[in-house]
Amino acid sequence: MKDIETRVRDLMDKMTLEEKIGQTRQCGPSLVGAFEVDFSELLNMMFDGRISKEKFDELMAGAHQDLKEDDIRAGKIGSFNGVKGAEQVRTIQKIAVEESRLGIPLIIGSDVIHGYRTVTPIPLGESCAWEPSLWERTARISAEEAAADGIKWTFAPMVDVAKDARWGRISEGAGEDALLNGLYGAAKVRGFQTDDPSAKDSIAACVKHFAAYGAVEAGRDYNRVDMSEQKLREEYLPSYKASVEAGALTVMPAFNDISGVPCSCNSMLLTDILRKEWGFKGMTISDANAIAELVNHGAAADNAEAAAKAMEAGMDMDMTSEAYIENLAELIRSGAVSEEALDRAVADILRVKFELGLFDDPYYMAEDDPENHFLKPEYRTLAREAAQKSIVLLKNENVLPLNRGIRLGICGDLAGERAEMTGTWSINAVGDDCVSITDACEAQALPYTWFKTDLTAESGSFETLAKDCDVFIAAIGERKDESGEAASRTSIELPAEQIHMLEKLIATGKPVIAVVFNGRPLALTWVNDNVPAILEAWHPGVEAGNAILDLVFGDVNPSAKLTASFPYNAGMCPVYYDHINTGRPGGRGKFTSKYLDAPLTPVYPFGYGLSYTTYEYSDLQAEVTAEGIQVCVKVTNTGACAGDEIVQCYFRDPVAERVRPVRKLAAFDKITLQPGETKAVSFLIKKEQLGYWNSKMQFVVDSGDIEVYAGGCSTTELKAVVTI
Ligand code: NOJ
Repeated sequence: MKDIETRVRDLMDKMTLEEKIGQTRQCGPSLVGAFEVDFSELLNMMFDGRISKEKFDELMAGAHQDLKEDDIRAGKIGSFNGVKGAEQVRTIQKIAVEESRLGIPLIIGSDVIHGYRTVTPIPLGESCAWEPSLWERTARISAEEAAADGIKWTFAPMVDVAKDARWGRISEGAGEDALLNGLYGAAKVRGFQTDDPSAKDSIAACVKHFAAYGAVEAGRDYNRVDMSEQKLREEYLPSYKASVEAGALTVMPAFNDISGVPCSCNSMLLTDILRKEWGFKGMTISDANAIAELVNHGAAADNAEAAAKAMEAGMDMDMTSEAYIENLAELIRSGAVSEEALDRAVADILRVKFELGLFDDPYYMAEDDPENHFLKPEYRTLAREAAQKSIVLLKNENVLPLNRGIRLGICGDLAGERAEMTGTWSINAVGDDCVSITDACEAQALPYTWFKTDLTAESGSFETLAKDCDVFIAAIGERKDESGEAASRTSIELPAEQIHMLEKLIATGKPVIAVVFNGRPLALTWVNDNVPAILEAWHPGVEAGNAILDLVFGDVNPSAKLTASFPYNAGMCPVYYDHINTGRPGGRGKFTSKYLDAPLTPVYPFGYGLSYTTYEYSDLQAEVTAEGIQVCVKVTNTGACAGDEIVQCYFRDPVAERVRPVRKLAAFDKITLQPGETKAVSFLIKKEQLGYWNSKMQFVVDSGDIEVYAGGCSTTELKAVVTI
């Protein structure tokens, strides 16, 4: 068979200008129906209260989807986002392949972010497992389910380094560190695409949101980003680069601008860095409507100019704004956009379609009922493992683990609401697929009473029933729509009614365990001060209740560690471990870098997490080699039960031309230790990891001392010094 480049060229030779432009267009199915305004206005009307949720649902029920069959037939659509189900995909694919002039297949995309039907923990939660092979395995099962249902492309992984808990989308990535986000992204790419993207159950990954979306000012979604190129390259770009190097077929530029240039028309990002420096050969797709939004940014006068700027910068496909389909032909005829730019875009798109095997097997979706491919027992087992490994034990004053047989008071609405367990971006989830805490208690026939957050219970009053409970498990935190896109917050404290519930529980004198569900680090200051045991559960997915009880009863020993710092309050955001020292590091003195009304450090730092056992670190050795710094540290399990420990290695360059962070994560490993067992763990800090961009924008590795740290948290003081 001819190679892909030849097949792309042969096909392009046959294409008309209109057919080429058609390939750059991604549509969502439009809704036609019983309303006079367009869909986004209808959504606004519901959100701002002009119509009720009930009225909205009623209008939607009367609407039907327009799949734009005539446009597909005419070769005017290259891709769809939001088409649901294998049958519908097969229908439109058949039109593209069998009824359009050149028979070019559609590529069907969707947001498969943390599971398709088998929903696994939100990415921020799953990242706390610090386990790339787990991240790869969960991506694999979501690809298998999605492909069976007609999806060949996911808009994931999101590898936006996020240091600000106010930003709702912190939930969608691997937290505040660049290295972790890069490893997470690369693992997801491997899981989605495998070594053979053309296999029936492989789907294309899309690395997003390029770049630095996680740095939006004040944590407000879609806001500006203004930073030095040095900072961009050191702290934000590495995670995208690692994911691109893992072979990601597509990349999505971010909504935000960087230093005044929106990413959607940023040729430094899309052409110079992505394609020329990193050698990316895949396709770029805008974020939803983002090309037209260049007008709102103030970067283009109208959609035509927006289309021209985006295309010339290197944006291949237009997600749903229609700026390309409506303007490119004229722009090319007038010479405002070069045909060469369009040809490059179309070649990128076709190349990805060939690599995905779409020309050879456009009907990759399941032939039988896709339901047969969802929620297989082994998928549920993996979802449970992922949740167990994501839940972080934040505090434990001799409360956990519990003995079975103990009478439980399960408190809080979230303990019984299945659909809340899925978290943000779980668009194909079915709430009833999830096991809530109360479901798990029921299934295990545990003695329990469920109280709502206001402490009402169906079977009697709190005062009476509480006497029969030995311990309380309080489900607190956020509902799933309180994090994710367009869900930034200025207050990240718990709502008053949850604090009130906890106060009443504590007043009984019985032990209280807080189980926190959330999509962002919350300010758990009060909870940390007052509640003796805290489990950070995130939104754990379909196996939520089972995994939580596995940890509560000690069937599984908690091992997860935080990948984002938990602030004392929203006012200290952003707070993160790899900060610089400043000229006046915070201390006792008045004129030091600190707050009058809050401590300088977060309540729980990056890398923190407890276990039912304890570990001791000793014998840290570091030695300079030709490759970098070879590190070795001994870890001993000093407690009474076996456990998995996430061993972390950091470094600091204490004197440099541009100041360096006080700690930088260099490597990590997860080891299993029996009680009393000691293991030696080795790491290599590669030479280039020590480098940075100096003020002349040269990448340099300084000579001089490097401090090396190892331990179970970013705050470890176990240190060795080497000289480079
Ligand atoms: C907007 C989001 O920013 C992006 O992450 C997502 O993939 C697209 N919408 C498509 O749904």
